[in-house]
Amino acid sequence: MKKIIVLALAAVLAAPFIRAQETYTPAPENIEARKEFAKHRFGIFIHWGIYSMMADGEWIMNNRDLKYDEYSRLAAGFYPSKFNAEEWVKVFKAAGAKYITITSRHHDGFSMFGTKASPYNIVNATPFKRDVIKELSEACAKEGIKLHFYYSHLDWGRNDYFPLGNTGHSAGRPEGDDTSWNHYIDFMCTQLSELLTNYGPIEGLWFDGVWDKRGKDFEEQGKIWQIEKQYKLIHSLQPACIIGNNHHHGNFAGEDMQIFEKDLPGKNTTGFVEDNVVSDTLPLETCETINNSWGYSMDDDSYKSKEDLIRYLVKAAGNGANFLLNIGPRPDGTLPEESVERLLAIGQWLEKYGESVYETQRGCTGEMPWGITTQKDNVLYIHNFSNCGAVLVPVKGNKAVSAVCLQGGEKVTFKQVDEGIVVSFPACTGDCPDRIVKVTFKKDLN
Ligand code: GLC
Repeated sequence: MKKIIVLALAAVLAAPFIRAQETYTPAPENIEARKEFAKHRFGIFIHWGIYSMMADGEWIMNNRDLKYDEYSRLAAGFYPSKFNAEEWVKVFKAAGAKYITITSRHHDGFSMFGTKASPYNIVNATPFKRDVIKELSEACAKEGIKLHFYYSHLDWGRNDYFPLGNTGHSAGRPEGDDTSWNHYIDFMCTQLSELLTNYGPIEGLWFDGVWDKRGKDFEEQGKIWQIEKQYKLIHSLQPACIIGNNHHHGNFAGEDMQIFEKDLPGKNTTGFVEDNVVSDTLPLETCETINNSWGYSMDDDSYKSKEDLIRYLVKAAGNGANFLLNIGPRPDGTLPEESVERLLAIGQWLEKYGESVYETQRGCTGEMPWGITTQKDNVLYIHNFSNCGAVLVPVKGNKAVSAVCLQGGEKVTFKQVDEGIVVSFPACTGDCPDRIVKVTFKKDLN
């Protein structure tokens, strides 16, 4: 009896999440797109906008309490004379990235694409007049790189963004009325239609800013933002488009991936995560900055080392997630050399050891004191980040057939014990952020 009550209670508590998932049936092409997306394992996040001119990150308007009337004048001076979409995409491809996610509109409300919904956009409000998103979409199509759009729900400038949320209070905008919010939602729907109509196939949409209206229960937040309406619109225009939302929560119905900001799935070192649910059906993605900033920041030289970035990519894969690595291009349209150097180093590493990352799945061991594993069918890739000369891999009920070191190509010894298998690691010569041994098992590991 007690057990039944506990089970019933668990069902009631889980109900909102389950209900949300039940109201959406992804189209067959969406299911296919999810599978393809999960194979990518590496993407480049790009935060670029008129805020880049201020060289202090994308939150500058809010953080420095800038008035919208003053801030928006940046647009008339935005002229990224050195921007070359093809050059960018070639760097991303050489980095081994399979997709990019670019800010089409951030919280400052400026659209980096040509839109009829507002004159505050790169084509109409800058002397540059070029639709950089269009140019990027064409370069991506040419190079076989998939395109995703970051799109901010939150807006710090528009008058119809009313009632206000937790941020954007110093813009100096007049208060709206009862009609404002629906007007704002309609504006976003118009822009989303443009983004999904004018730029070819869009692999994913990455929403951000729902948390500006925090304080309400999650389902309630979904209603405020009219999430269902927006997601239906997106899927009606491009059924395969993968929707993700950086709301730091389990998923709303209609979402096709789960996003983790500056954390690996299930972790909450940032304190952003509201409920620590990790989906076991949707593709996962972890995003992180290459230094400490999303948008270009002139004095941020806290660049992560290429070794740390490679290990983070491997850890994301070992946790079943893609790694979306952010860079902030300069206002002149160039990519900071420190970023390019690291991207190319990751690319060279992936060129050699990509088989242990691309198209792999979460490793059956989870994180281990010495590193992590990734797997594909009956193959387990053991990623040893430590100095250990031998590691115990707790895989039971399966027999290892062979073990090879990916770095040198030599066979390594292994021993089956009660707790799993003990694999020896050759000493590493040269540049070696991750020693990898590929173990082939008799049976599939899934
Ligand atoms: C946060 C920030 C935003 C950034 C995003 C990327 O939500 O508000 O500026 O775009 O993280 O993950």
